[in-house]
Amino acid sequence: MPLAFDDLVHRARALPRGGRRAILGIAGSPGAGKSTLAEHLVRELNKSGEPWVAHVPMDGFHLADTELERLGRRDRKGAPDTFDAAGYAALLGRLREERHDDVVYAPGFERVLEQPLAGAIPVPPSARLVVTEGNYLLLDTDAWARVRHRLDEVWFCELPERERVRRLVARHEQFGKSHTEAVAWVSRSDQPNAELVAATRGRADLVVPESALPRVET
Ligand SMILES: Nc1ncnc2c1ncn2[C@@H]1O[C@H](COP(=O)(O)OP(=O)(O)OP(=O)(O)O)[C@@H](O)[C@H]1O
Ligand SMILES: [Mg+2]
Repeated sequence: MPLAFDDLVHRARALPRGGRRAILGIAGSPGAGKSTLAEHLVRELNKSGEPWVAHVPMDGFHLADTELERLGRRDRKGAPDTFDAAGYAALLGRLREERHDDVVYAPGFERVLEQPLAGAIPVPPSARLVVTEGNYLLLDTDAWARVRHRLDEVWFCELPERERVRRLVARHEQFGKSHTEAVAWVSRSDQPNAELVAATRGRADLVVPESALPRVET
């Protein structure tokens, strides 16, 4: 039997052991469906009773456009050095180690403004599992190397290349780019990042096949 979404739900549910909070990472190339998978997992796990699972995307650690301009990296937004990787690793450390009697706030990413937003995501003391997701969880360069150690498991979300690119173009269009702009952005900017991420696949604990991705109306 190929792996199904329910198998992922069971596996995630079993991650917190003893009193310790667990952190599950979902890596994968741009547009592979990481955020959608995380949202569905968190919703399913929190379905009954008090919420005990939080969703903390890596996306909140995008550097702001003003800082990217200062660094001369605005046209490469989305590449590994356009994120605050050290800040992300430090937040994962806090989520893991801090005594859990306070809310820990994570930054969000505002898709319309395409800017990070501090204080957007509360992780309550009751969160026993944190699901975090993003492109670069398995990179072993610079501060990214500190991320992997703070995650209990990392899953790699994989999609056939044509479908991944199709969805990515559609999503850029949905957020205001014309078709031509979307195609150009995907091939110029997203593709090198996708190749970098694909090379980290071997470090994942689990490669999530298409059969296990949630059914989503498109
Ligand atoms: N299981 C699915 N079935 C059908 N469409 C999906 C599925 N998962 C994601 N999509 C669509 O594909 C697009 C990309 O999905 P999503 O935003 O979850 O990917 P991502 O890996 O988080 O991308 P990014 O790296 O850019 O954050 C979205 O428009 C979403 O609606
Ligand atoms: Mg995403």
